[in-house]
Amino acid sequence: MAARKAGELLREGAARHGRGELAAAEALYRQVLALDPGEPNAHNLMGVLARQRGAPEQALRHTERALARSPEAPVFLANHGAALAEAGRLAEAVAHLRAALARRPEDAVSLRNLGQALCALGDARAAAAPLEQAVRLDPGGAAPWLALAHARRELGEAAAALAAARAALARAGGDAALAGQARFLLAALGEGAAPDRAPAEYVRDLFDQFAPRFEAELTERLAYRTPEALAALVEAVAAPRGVVVLDLGCGTGLSGTALAPFAARLEGLDLSPRMLAEAGKRGLYAALHAADLVEFLPSRPGAYGLVAAVDVLNYLGDLAPALAGMAQALAPGGLAAFSVEAGAGAPFALGEGMRYRHDPVHVAGLAAAAGFTELARQEAVLRQEKGRPVAGVLFVLRRGAAGPTSPPP
Ligand SMILES: C[S@@+](CC[C@H](N)C(=O)[O-])C[C@H]1O[C@@H](n2cnc3c(N)ncnc32)[C@H](O)[C@@H]1O
Repeated sequence: MAARKAGELLREGAARHGRGELAAAEALYRQVLALDPGEPNAHNLMGVLARQRGAPEQALRHTERALARSPEAPVFLANHGAALAEAGRLAEAVAHLRAALARRPEDAVSLRNLGQALCALGDARAAAAPLEQAVRLDPGGAAPWLALAHARRELGEAAAALAAARAALARAGGDAALAGQARFLLAALGEGAAPDRAPAEYVRDLFDQFAPRFEAELTERLAYRTPEALAALVEAVAAPRGVVVLDLGCGTGLSGTALAPFAARLEGLDLSPRMLAEAGKRGLYAALHAADLVEFLPSRPGAYGLVAAVDVLNYLGDLAPALAGMAQALAPGGLAAFSVEAGAGAPFALGEGMRYRHDPVHVAGLAAAAGFTELARQEAVLRQEKGRPVAGVLFVLRRGAAGPTSPPP
């Protein structure tokens, strides 16, 4: 009797889930779990729901429960693998996705998830085969083509990457986010004009994936020292103390650690919820904002004494809105400090690494137009990339023409 009732509730929940009625579906799955707390299908579907809501840790608690009862079920292995990937546990994700595919080799979604997890682990070579297979099984889908294009780009196979990115764009249909990502990749590969900025979804997904490995990768492998270098420059030219500091694109908080000595109150902001979750673990930030810096800055007029963007503006092409926003968010006399990757000849250019380079002379012009006085401009090596130094420029600016007119907040 209870089993029949649970079956009916599950079917109803899945139907409503399919129609996008997430709250109603959840209520029905919870009724199933009240009847049978270990019911694996309800846990599996609760896991899918949690992933849709961007809560991978919660998803994992459910997908683990589903697998506990049915460890061999390919659907449960596949969903657990996807949840692990979204939580940044990439090696475990690969193992579970491979186990799912051993039992159900024609699962195009798991093939794509496997390829993307391998790419995120830095193994684009191994990613190519499952991604090729994913596009064979789902040739009309834009997402597998886009994932394949990224893997081909990582492998330095520009022509194959271009072909796959074109295929993704042709199939994106009304999905503006996917189309934007395909266009951005095409531009990075040299086809079409570079957009004014990297798509927010691209940046969010990239750093969500990267979050668990970010610090080890940057500090150990890529010799990343930009936060310390920029903080030293701020100290040398302005030595602020006890101000309200906003760390734009704070990531996991490496930059916040370097900025903390200036701050009476330190706030962080980032597009990536998982980078913010890592930053939160430091206990350094009084507030963390999940937001796009270009949209956030105008909402806080005059609120800060120092606004910093360390290794962040290379995800924006046109810096005019960001600089104008920084000026707005600063009190008169407040400081802006940031790094850019250095380029020359054009105001900005999109590199193959999918980051923008900026001409420092053009940046200085935009800063002046936004009402800043330049206090310092310094060349610096920002980090290593593929064994080569990345050349950058550090800027420290003061809002206003002269020194501080009143103490910044
Ligand atoms: C390379 S990380 C640098 C993190 C940190 N500032 C540091 O120095 O370690 C770049 C960060 O900027 C964030 N980001 C890029 N564009 C952004 C935007 N438009 N708004 C908010 N955050 C952004 C990314 O999500 C990522 O966490």
